[in-house]
Amino acid sequence: MAHPENPFIFGEVVDDLNFVNRTDELAQLERDLTDGQKVFLLSPRRFGKSSLVSVALLRLRKRHIHTVNLTVSSYSSYAQFLEKFAEKVLRAGGSWDRVKDLVKRFVQRVKPEAKVDLATGEITLSLKGAESNPALIAPEVFALPGELSKNAGFRMAICLDEFQQISQFDGGSVENAIRNEVQKQRQVGYVFAGSQPTLMEEMLSAKRPFHKAGPRMFLDKIPANDWKDFIAGHFRKRGRNIDPEALDALMTAADLIPYDVQRIAHELWDYAELRNKREPAASDVTFVVERLVTGQSTYYEADWERLSARQRATLQAIANRGAAEIYSQAVREEFRLGAASTVQKALQSLDTKDILDLYKGNYFFIDPLFALWIKRKGSR
Ligand SMILES: Nc1ncnc2c1ncn2[C@@H]1O[C@H](COP(=O)(O)OP(=O)(O)OP(=O)(O)O)[C@@H](O)[C@H]1O
Ligand SMILES: [Mg+2]
Repeated sequence: MAHPENPFIFGEVVDDLNFVNRTDELAQLERDLTDGQKVFLLSPRRFGKSSLVSVALLRLRKRHIHTVNLTVSSYSSYAQFLEKFAEKVLRAGGSWDRVKDLVKRFVQRVKPEAKVDLATGEITLSLKGAESNPALIAPEVFALPGELSKNAGFRMAICLDEFQQISQFDGGSVENAIRNEVQKQRQVGYVFAGSQPTLMEEMLSAKRPFHKAGPRMFLDKIPANDWKDFIAGHFRKRGRNIDPEALDALMTAADLIPYDVQRIAHELWDYAELRNKREPAASDVTFVVERLVTGQSTYYEADWERLSARQRATLQAIANRGAAEIYSQAVREEFRLGAASTVQKALQSLDTKDILDLYKGNYFFIDPLFALWIKRKGSR
């Protein structure tokens, strides 16, 4: 039997075929974007925002809605971001005929170095002149989707991913500029996706430009049963019958974080292929998880070295006793955490360091394997 490709994918956006659940979220997002809403999509890292958005945009394209997807954190300056935004929006316009009048007007006002390959219609923009004062041309750039959809008579949907990074460009002024323009664009749906919910919440708070600009959507974890069906189904197609306890062990080790579920399932798949395991068991999951943790231990050791004694104790307490118990007197005494207010401070600093994040009011390890490494370390 030829080796089929490993069906478990992590670290890149998953496509429509390998997309687990999220039916409601997908329908909601599709509807909101079609209606020209400005949606704020929030979740901790690696929960599946980018994947959800890319599947939603794919479906919209099938319905002839023109889409643009930009990751804010990919650009090193405000000017470069504006340049790519303008370029991608114009490219989403379709044929050169459709956008040429708009491009001409844009060029007259903003004076970019614009190149158009007339054979392919491919547009390349350079806003070199904008480096010195990008805020000056920002309104023109952010107005483009509205003008384009009006002139060409189609709807658009635009995603700005890693949106929490936008404030690094130009503080409040960029938020203002975007808010002012997008609120005039009834034909254009926007999704602003952001990790680091704390930063995003701040951005949506009163006194900030995006306050009440549109609906918020919090991405939850995907229920364990959907993952189990997905994983067992793939193993079954390969003639392997995965033990229900193995599935439980996998869900626990991954803390139901989509990235980690896929990562461990990927590892288990390779292991089952190599050893030709007909019935992968819980002990096999333990084995591959241990191997993953060991593989990461150099990084974990380095992270650990950089933490204060108080931060380490706090992480040990969460890894061993769970986050819900962290403020209890018993746990504070056991791990010598000090007063509840001290614990609170340690937790916040670990959140800032991107080691912990909040989900439904409780702190959790962004990387669940780090928690396992900490547990292992403590037991030696
Ligand atoms: N609906 C899904 N079905 C299957 N796998 C998923 C799903 N959503 C996420 N994943 C898994 O989680 C990984 C991370 O997803 P994605 O990159 O979309 O998350 P994200 O929230 O955008 O993360 P980041 O905050 O790091 O940008 C994917 O590579 C995939 O392995
Ligand atoms: Mg993402």
